[in-house]
Amino acid sequence: MLKLPQMTFSELMKGRRSRRWFDKNTPIPDSILESILETASRSPSFMNSQPWRVLVAGMQTMQRVVESLEAHQNNGTTTMPYAWPASWPAPQQANVDETRRLRAPHREEPVDLFSKWAYDAPVTVFLCLENSLNEWSIMDLGAFAMAFMLAAEEKGVHSVPQAKLVNNTKYLQQILDLPQNIVPVLGISLGYSIPEKVSNTFVSPRMPLQEFVEYRP
Ligand SMILES: Cc1cc2nc3c(=O)[nH]c(=O)nc-3n(C[C@H](O)[C@H](O)[C@H](O)COP(=O)(O)O)c2cc1C
Repeated sequence: MLKLPQMTFSELMKGRRSRRWFDKNTPIPDSILESILETASRSPSFMNSQPWRVLVAGMQTMQRVVESLEAHQNNGTTTMPYAWPASWPAPQQANVDETRRLRAPHREEPVDLFSKWAYDAPVTVFLCLENSLNEWSIMDLGAFAMAFMLAAEEKGVHSVPQAKLVNNTKYLQQILDLPQNIVPVLGISLGYSIPEKVSNTFVSPRMPLQEFVEYRP
């Protein structure tokens, strides 16, 4: 049994980072996954509407998802729930560029389709919303996603949130057997990461407080 250190909230926040190579042969026990979901379900939401719907996909389902993603990329069939940002305002563009520059030496060539899209994760969760919900519910889903990843971290389970997994909602809904009005908004790949992989060693930068905090008397 894995012995985990007790971590404070700030240690969890500082310890969490996106891991992009998991051990596909080490499954996540159902009890651990359930406990992570239970914790995340304590997230706040607009009027406690709890708009999240969670689809848990194993590797068999994800094999079909990655084949579909690979087959339908760049051929005009992209049906993302929200458009990919076409451009960024200058401060965000600078953050994107800086992160890309620092991350470049930590990128690893995938060995197959599954490592390319799913980073070999034994489990992928799709956070979904009913399609008539508005932007406030996306905020709720974001809170759920963060809580989910931190709850996972506490249990020694690593993760990476992935917009690219919801590139093609139409096909994804079919593979996941979801009704048309339930839209996957974010995929989160999770599992036990391989520490030796260089892609798992990258710690992304953050702006200093003075660049994003202002005070008024
Ligand atoms: C909404 C959202 C979508 C993301 N989509 C992807 C993705 O498709 N692929 C990927 O490798 N990382 C993705 N990420 C991870 C970000 O690149 C990562 O969170 C960011 O670079 C900061 O690094 P950190 O998570 O290690 O702190 C996404 C993160 C968020 C919050």
